[in-house]
Amino acid sequence: VPGFFKPIQNAAPSSSTSRNTKISVVGAGNVGMAIAQTILTQDLVDELALVDAKPDKLRGEMLDLQHAAAFLPRTKILASVDYSATVGSDLCIVTAGARQIAGESRLNLLQRNVALFRDIIPPLVKYSPDCILMIVSNPVDVLTYVAWKLSGLPPNRVVGSGTNLDSSRFRFLIADHLDVNAQEVQACIIGEHGDSSVALWSSISVGGVPILSFLEKQQIAYEKETLEKIHKAVVDSAYEVISLKGYTSWAIGYSAANLARSILRDQRKIHPVSVLAKGLYGIQGGDDVFLSLPAVLGRAGVLGVTDVHLTDEEARRLRESARTISEVQSQLGI
Ligand code: NAI
Ligand code: LAC
Repeated sequence: VPGFFKPIQNAAPSSSTSRNTKISVVGAGNVGMAIAQTILTQDLVDELALVDAKPDKLRGEMLDLQHAAAFLPRTKILASVDYSATVGSDLCIVTAGARQIAGESRLNLLQRNVALFRDIIPPLVKYSPDCILMIVSNPVDVLTYVAWKLSGLPPNRVVGSGTNLDSSRFRFLIADHLDVNAQEVQACIIGEHGDSSVALWSSISVGGVPILSFLEKQQIAYEKETLEKIHKAVVDSAYEVISLKGYTSWAIGYSAANLARSILRDQRKIHPVSVLAKGLYGIQGGDDVFLSLPAVLGRAGVLGVTDVHLTDEEARRLRESARTISEVQSQLGI
């Protein structure tokens, strides 16, 4: 309403004074909307764009989020089936695609979701050539490789949410077992976001105390068995939640927002995320394999991969995980 308030002399419109940050989320389903909601709650961006193939669902989700404006930091929310809505994104998060049914492996989704990526990735990069791509759709490691190949972006600007989620599940279960806060548990899972993930036992610490050395000193052998059971529970987590509620969403919503914050706020935090792993940790082979390694994330994307000490067994399991992904990937011909 013109004249509603007297403008301050020389006060330029906000859009021309500071560089807006923008995230686009492709796929307005369970996962995409959990990510969108967490991004808004955590005040991560000035603008949030939603893209999906279903116009009514998109508009409904956009309106439903806009109606929360009185309770959220001011964020411009838009939605469209047209990728032009994503123009100028700093970060594009891709969650579009088929999801597992009860008992189905993530790898089984590959062919369906690769086909979608051929339609999704090129327009995202066309409208935001300087963006960072974060892949969430499954199988996330192979689809991160596919997104990298289809985008033409440098590998540091294509990352998969990877085992950031698995590591959070791992930390929760260890913390629950020890009855401490999960944020006091440093524990990392690497490799495939899936059945062949690798728990880094030798790196687990609680309140800064390396747990395995503590257990050996106290001759607590049974705890190692407990830790193995906890890793199995992590691998089984998604299958259990999917069998109970049909999909997983809240934990990945927080995981993806946690990664988005590290990237957009240039936090340089270390996250286990899906990165181009060839030549690292003894992973050779002809394929450019993406899998989760502890990576430093900042405004330029993947700034580096930490050189964590792996035991011989951990290194063997990581190479096995890389082989699993490579075998599936080699069938793609991309
Ligand atoms: P959903 O079925 O609720 O949502 C998928 C959305 O993608 C739908 O709204 C659909 O309309 C949209 N879509 C399909 N084709 C499209 C296209 N060509 N362009 C734009 N949008 C399109 O599924 P949900 O539960 O959100 O899962 C999505 C994906 O995320 C699945 O692949 C699932 O496995 C994966 N996921 C990955 C996790 C991870 O940790 N990496 C965790 C949880 C889910
Ligand atoms: C999960 C699956 C869906 O870990 O990737 O939740």
